[in-house]
Amino acid sequence: MFGKVKKLTLFLTAVIALALITSGCGGSKEGASEQGEQKDKIVVKFTHVVAESTPKGQAALKFKEVLEEKSGGQFEVQVYPSSQLYGDKEEQEQLLANNVQFIAPSVTKLITFNPSFQLVDMPFLFKDNNAAYKFFDGEQGQKLLKSLEPNGILGLAWWANGMKQFTDSKHPLKSPEDFKGLKFRTQSGGVLDEQFKALGAGSQTLAFAEVYQALQNGTVDGQENTFNNIDTQKYVEVQKYLTISNHGRLDYVVLTNTTFWSSLTPEQQQMVTEAMNEATAYERQLADELDATSFENIKNSGKVEIYELTDEDRAKFIEALKPLYDKYAESIGQEYIDAARNS
Ligand code: LMR
Repeated sequence: MFGKVKKLTLFLTAVIALALITSGCGGSKEGASEQGEQKDKIVVKFTHVVAESTPKGQAALKFKEVLEEKSGGQFEVQVYPSSQLYGDKEEQEQLLANNVQFIAPSVTKLITFNPSFQLVDMPFLFKDNNAAYKFFDGEQGQKLLKSLEPNGILGLAWWANGMKQFTDSKHPLKSPEDFKGLKFRTQSGGVLDEQFKALGAGSQTLAFAEVYQALQNGTVDGQENTFNNIDTQKYVEVQKYLTISNHGRLDYVVLTNTTFWSSLTPEQQQMVTEAMNEATAYERQLADELDATSFENIKNSGKVEIYELTDEDRAKFIEALKPLYDKYAESIGQEYIDAARNS
């Protein structure tokens, strides 16, 4: 009897030891036998909130493809789209806990870590997509990307989506006065809440996964997003009007956590960096292409009335939103604003 207990204890100890050896400390590591030799497979998770067909969704899959190929199968990247694994808030918490190794949130959602990321929300700041890319790849953009390291978060790349447009269900939005009394969904507080306040509207921060329903049941009257998110989330089904305003941007930073990163060898870090560079070039090109495709889809759906701001309309919005620059220049950082304006 005692012998049996001892054998069972030895067996259980061996099982636990094996489990500890193979679990690793970064993404989970699975023992994978190759030609008799024991190799560790690093299994990592990449989670995001948008549809798979979006620039971010496709680029996450490109990153998976390139990294798995480059590493000869040493890495396995599991991609979870559409808030399937975690929503906006949870994905940041789970990154910090190293339960997920890659996320690519809209930078606006990082304001609790660094308010400077609200730069992309400043009204009419970036001329166009190329100006944004120039900022991202320039000195100030790279400085901002690396600013989260004291929080245990490493910025790997800037990805883009594009310029934001307004939609609503009440009436066409042609001038700042048209916003009065309406309520809009925002991705986060700060500049975005202030933007709607300056236009005489109310706002409510909602996770991306909750927006369609909130528009449908009238919790909010409208929202602001890129053509691609409006198209892939089918907001045209629950909105009546779209204004082409190009008033702000929606962009992403791809983040990993420093616990995972420092568990990799320099060679593995290099593989991740190279795969990320390839995915980034692909993502930006796709963002430009899909912006145009989604605009066509929205137009062809015939479901929303579309109005494009004239230069005169635009001047009125610029004037109405000017106070945001006085209020936020300091917390965002004048050097970032200047670099974005001069890009
Ligand atoms: C949103 O919440 O509207 C966007 O940030 C979603 C996304 O990731 O593009």
